Amino acid sequence: MSYLQYIRHLRARDEIANVLDTEEATMETPYLDSLQRPLQPLKDHLEFSMYETFEKDPVKYAKYQEAVYLALKTMDLTSDSSKPIVIAVAGAGRGPLVMRSIQAFRQLQIPLKIQVYALEKNPSAVVYLESMAQHNPLWQGIVTVVNTDVRQLNQDHLHGRKIDIIVSELLGSFGDNELSPECLDPLLASECCTSSTISIPMQYTSFLAPVSSCRLHTEATQQAQVPHDGAQPLGMQRAMETSYVVRTHSASQTHIEQPCWKFDHPCTTSNKERTARVDMAPESSSGPITIHGLLGTFTAVLFAKGESSCDISIAPHHFSKGMFSWFPIYFPFREPIRVPEGSNVSVKMWRKTMEGRVWYEWCAIVHRKGEIIEMTPIHNPNGRSSYVSM
Ligand SMILES: C[S@@+](CC[C@H](N)C(=O)[O-])C[C@H]1O[C@@H](n2cnc3c(N)ncnc32)[C@H](O)[C@@H]1O
Repeated sequence: MSYLQYIRHLRARDEIANVLDTEEATMETPYLDSLQRPLQPLKDHLEFSMYETFEKDPVKYAKYQEAVYLALKTMDLTSDSSKPIVIAVAGAGRGPLVMRSIQAFRQLQIPLKIQVYALEKNPSAVVYLESMAQHNPLWQGIVTVVNTDVRQLNQDHLHGRKIDIIVSELLGSFGDNELSPECLDPLLASECCTSSTISIPMQYTSFLAPVSSCRLHTEATQQAQVPHDGAQPLGMQRAMETSYVVRTHSASQTHIEQPCWKFDHPCTTSNKERTARVDMAPESSSGPITIHGLLGTFTAVLFAKGESSCDISIAPHHFSKGMFSWFPIYFPFREPIRVPEGSNVSVKMWRKTMEGRVWYEWCAIVHRKGEIIEMTPIHNPNGRSSYVSM
């Protein structure tokens, strides 16, 4: 009883309550260790409640506004003042990035015009955007809504204009897993853009780290029969070869996350497949550990030029404080693996793409002095259990 009283006393202290009772912490509570299938906003149309949740993020949109402002500031705006600056918001949703782009432009206080194209494929979001374009005084005469997949955008949609800045938020918890590269590269290569078109984001990097968590592993095995989200049971093979978005709680990242791969816009290679071997930095841990899978995160450079730069990140080493739009992604191991003291962990990860599908394959190797001690099988070969649809 005295122990319980002591815990209650600690819990009531201001410095603890200030961390645990924030709006963000309260919002996150129902999601703790609860596995969610990653969204597929390219294949599916998001519901309004999803957009509403995104729009509550106090950090993401402010960062985007800063990035658009910096991009505008570095552009050569003197060449032809009769031509408007053209911004295309690719995947506009209900328009928060349209609003932030206009605000960034107004912040500059320059005697130029701006034309914003809100590109969106979700018909119900388009209805909302059209109403905003008609009724919001900040949008009137500035915003044109185009109901299209950004991969099909053509010059007619833009009244013959070329895009100066593409603003998009097509990022998933692992950076590229909502197929931002598959959407942005064709747009940037199209007749709608020039070699000086700026993409915000310019670059994103995926990160991986091993995670020790019986809880996450058990939750993943339960997806085989009783998924939380009421979806169809997956069966054991699929359940353990599927990645899940999760706000981790009863989980411990055992090594510092390491970069896995990156995508640049404009792209430096048209190949969207990736292969990475990620060697985890040896830990000075006191004993053996067991790992149950990998945690994926990302950082994104929204804009960078010279001294100016603006980024967002959910990778723990560089987390954008207060941003809650993304939780990490969990890649389970079919069976946990033991990492004896003094041994190292390496991870192999592949991003593969074929016939309208993108998928990840992953495995881990435990080794010491060049000798393999244990190895997981390759999970999800040929995307047999999980993939993202283009
Ligand atoms: C993650 S939401 C972001 C919405 C909004 N920009 C925001 O930040 O709240 C991504 C949006 O992009 C749209 N989208 C995804 N892929 C697209 C594509 N290829 N063409 C047009 N819209 C797309 C989705 O329908 C969704 O509205």
